[in-house]
Amino acid sequence: MSLLLGIESSCDETAASVVKDGHIVLSSIVASQDELHLEYGGVVPEIASRAHMERILPVIQEALKTANVKLEDIDAIAVGNKPGLIGSLLVGVAAAKALAWSLGKPLISVDHVVAHLWAPHLSDASIEYPALGIVVSGGHTSLLLLEDPTRVTCIGKTIDDAAGEAFDKAASILQLGWPGGQRIDEAAAKGNPTYPLPRPKTKGNRPDFSFSGLKTALLYGVRGTPTKIDGKMVFPRSANELNEQEINDWACSFQHAAVDAIMNGVYFALSNNPVRCVIAGGGVLANSLLRTKLKAIPEQFHIPVHLPELTYCVDNAAMIAGLGTHLFMNGHRDSLSITASPRGIAS
Ligand code: KG4
Ligand code: ZN
Repeated sequence: MSLLLGIESSCDETAASVVKDGHIVLSSIVASQDELHLEYGGVVPEIASRAHMERILPVIQEALKTANVKLEDIDAIAVGNKPGLIGSLLVGVAAAKALAWSLGKPLISVDHVVAHLWAPHLSDASIEYPALGIVVSGGHTSLLLLEDPTRVTCIGKTIDDAAGEAFDKAASILQLGWPGGQRIDEAAAKGNPTYPLPRPKTKGNRPDFSFSGLKTALLYGVRGTPTKIDGKMVFPRSANELNEQEINDWACSFQHAAVDAIMNGVYFALSNNPVRCVIAGGGVLANSLLRTKLKAIPEQFHIPVHLPELTYCVDNAAMIAGLGTHLFMNGHRDSLSITASPRGIAS
C-alpha cells in the first residue's frame, strides 16, 4: 500500500491531493484563481504566484483532512516542478521540499504535462503500453509516445498558441467571457458549423499544430478585414453587431475547425506509430466535440481510448500524486536540490 501527497501549482490552480496506490483518490482539492484573472482576460503570472503563496498551506491541510490522513501517514511527496510559470511552480516546489525535509519523507518531482496522462489511470487501472498520449490544455497541445507512463518522447506540439489558449481567445473575440473553452462549447451546442474556417496544418512530416492562423481567420470573419489607420488596426465592425445565432454559429464553426486540427494530428500519429491504446488529458478534454471524436478512434483504429473523468481534465494534484506513485514504486527519488523549470518534456 502506498499513500502519496501530490502538490500542483504550475499555472493558476493551487491543488493538493492524497492518492492511494496510484489509482484511488482519497482527496483532490483545487483552488481555482479564475476570479482573480477574469478582468485581465488571461493569467497574470505575478498575481498567480501571490495567490499560490496564500492558498498552498490551507489547500494541503484540506487535502489531508478530506482524506482523513495525517502527514506522518504519507509515504512520499510528489510535486509538479515543470513546465509552467516559474513563480507559480516555485511555490509548490518550496512547499513540497519543506514537507519532505521536515518529515524525512522522499520527494518525487513530476512533469506536469506527462502527469495529465495519468488522469485516465485514476478511474482505470488496466491501461496497456506503448500508448499515444494527447495533452490538450491551456498551455499545451502535445502528442507523446509513451513506452510506459514515464518513458516519453514528444512527437508533435503546437508551434504557436495552445489549443486551450485558442479557445480562450476565440471566446474573447466573440465576447463570450473567460475562461473561454467552456463558453465556446456551450455556444457551439446551440449553433451550426456554417462559416468556413481553415483547418491549420504545419509543414513537414511531424504532427505539429498551429492555431494562430485559425484565430486570425475567426477575428477577420467576425469583425471584417481591418485597415491600418495611424498605425492602429481598425475593424469595420464589432462582435456585438452579431445576433445570438450568428455568435453561436461562429463558436460552432471555430470548435469544429480546432477539433479537426487536433484530430488530424492524432490520425497522423496513429497511422505512423504502432501503439496499444490512446490516452488523453488536459483541460480541453472537457470539450464535448473532442471527446466524441476521440471516442470514435476504437472503431477506426481498433485500439481502446482512455479519457479522463471531467474532474481530472483541468489541472489537479491527483494526477501528480498518481504519476508520483508510479515513480516512487519504481524506486525513483529526487534530492532536495531539485528546482522548478518553465520547460518540460513536451515544451
Ligand atoms: O489543463 P488546464 O487546466 O490548464 C493547463 O494546464 O494549461 O486547461 C485549461 C484550458 C483553458 O484554456 C480552457 O479554456 C480549456 O482548458 N477548456 C476547454 C473546455 N473546458 C476547459 N476548452 C474547450 N472546451 C471546453 N469545454
Ligand atoms: Zn495542465
